[in-house]
Formats: sequence, structure tokens, C-alpha cells
Amino acid sequence: MSQRPRILLTRRWTREVEEYLAARYDVTLNENDVPMTADALRAAMREYDALCPTVTDRIDASVLEVPGRRVRLIGNFGVGFNHIDVEAARRLSICVSNTPDVLTDTTADLAILLMLMATRRAGEGERELRAGRWTGWRPTHMLGQSLTGKLLGLVGFGRIAQATARKAHAAFGMRIGYYGRRRATPEVEQATGARFYASLDDLVAEADVLSLHTPGGAETFHLVDAARLARMKPTAVLVNTARGPVVDEAALAAALKQGRIAAAGLDVYEEEPRVHPELLALENAVLLPHLGSATRETRTAMGMRVAENLEAFFAGRPLRDPVV
Ligand code: DGY
Repeated sequence: MSQRPRILLTRRWTREVEEYLAARYDVTLNENDVPMTADALRAAMREYDALCPTVTDRIDASVLEVPGRRVRLIGNFGVGFNHIDVEAARRLSICVSNTPDVLTDTTADLAILLMLMATRRAGEGERELRAGRWTGWRPTHMLGQSLTGKLLGLVGFGRIAQATARKAHAAFGMRIGYYGRRRATPEVEQATGARFYASLDDLVAEADVLSLHTPGGAETFHLVDAARLARMKPTAVLVNTARGPVVDEAALAAALKQGRIAAAGLDVYEEEPRVHPELLALENAVLLPHLGSATRETRTAMGMRVAENLEAFFAGRPLRDPVV
């Protein structure tokens, strides 16, 4: 019988990482890559030493508290961990790790992509062309908005927001404003000339592009609601690469439909993979399927970061990226 720790990857990972882990552990793969049910997750908690979930797995107290539990480490594939009940994990002395840093630039790139797509009407233009509705160049065709000199308002100012600020400032000469729980150091602010807003409502009202970078969870649920959308400029664009429930999707669809804001670029949704039907029908909504960290390099680096945490855990060393 194998003495190697038993590991479950709840979804398919890149081949490089699956092979790396298979050479070191008794690894079970989710061959058909279908999200696991709560019952299957509960059963896995009794069978494995470490469970490696993703954002599509809900690791709540009913999963963590399963009688006869064997799992001692939840090695999350992803930086966000609002799908894991970390308080229950702490109470039960189950370790939890995540994968920060390695996806910072890739996710910031996607925020920039959404910003450009939404302000330059890229999705709408491509749909027009593919549908054979393009009648040729003309001076007033599908005019968007320039980013140069505009105010990028960042809600949350962690690693990904700061990377987004650097790219937007360096590449497009955007001015940077941010709202966060803590004010950043002067060095961080100076790098992009970022201005701290003590009031989220003030930032919301002044931003030309409002980009969300908060964690998910109860504290940020519907942080952008109908009232905040109403404070935004009619020309403003909302970008969300954080977590879907940070935005009230129904209120956003109404604001976009009525032209109360100009456009939105979304990568995350309240009930993934479901997208609010009214958003699907709107030309001024750019909708991507949670692709923030989706490059081959980054998804492999994320898997290798989970591997580093597994190695530390099973060697009895402190986790590289402890959440709990
Ligand atoms: C992350 O890393 O948080 C991504 O959104 C996938 O979970």
C-alpha cells in the first residue's frame, strides 16, 4: 500500500503540474473535470490527506466538519478563498493555503483588457462585423472613450489593484485614485501618483473607470449596489475582476440598460456560471467567463504554488501561503 500522502485535485490542472504532483503523491484527478457535489466533497474529506479545491468548490462547515475526517490541509488553487469557511477550518485546526503573487500581473492584465474593451466598444464592434452589419469606415462610427488622463478608481488596493494601477498609469497615463481599508505607504502611492480616498462614495462619484479588487464574502456583498451605481458618472465604466457578489447584478443591468453608466466589463458573476439574462442582452456589457488568471504560464505557476504548500505541509514546515 502506498505510504505517500493522498491528494485530491477537484478539477483538472495543467499537465505539467499534474505530472509533478503524481510523481510525489498518491494523486487522484477529477478525470471528467465536472464540479464535485457537496456529498462527493464530504466523502473526499474522509479519504484524502489534502484536498486541493478551486473557486467552483464550496468548502463550507458541512464539508469541513464531516465525521471521520482525514484531510488536514486544504491547498486552494487560487488566491481568493471566500468559497472556504476559514473560521470553521480554524476551529477544526485544518490548515488552508492559497496562491498569491503568481497571478497578480495576469489578473491585472485582464482588468486592463476589460477597461479597453468596454471603453472602446470592442465586443460590440466584433459582433457587428461578424454579423455582416459593418458598412465601412466613417468618422462617427462606434465612438468610444479615451483612457488618457482619466481617473481610474480602484476599490481595494492589494497586489492586483496596485499592478492594475501601474499598468494603467504607465501605458495610458491614467490618474489613479483608490479606496481601501488601509492607506498604502507613500512609496506605493508615489509609484503611480495614487490618491487615497477616505470615502468610497467620493471615489465612485469621481472615477471614470471604477475597477473592483476587493475580496468576496459577506463584508463586500453588493458593495456596488443601486445607490452606488447612481452616484457614478453617466460616462463611467465599471470593471469587475474580483468576485461577482461585490456587484448587485440586477441593479447593474438596470443601470446599463437605462444608460445611467456607460458600460461594464465583467469577468465574475454572482452565481457562476449563470449570468444575469439582462446583462447577456446588453451591447454595453463586456462579459468574460472568469478568465482573470487564465494563461498557461500562470495556471501552471498557481499549481506549482499549491505544490510548494503541500511540500511544506507534509515536511512539517510552515506553509508558504497560510490562510489558516
Ligand atoms: C482566484 O485566484 O481567486 C481566481 O478568481 C480563481 O479562484
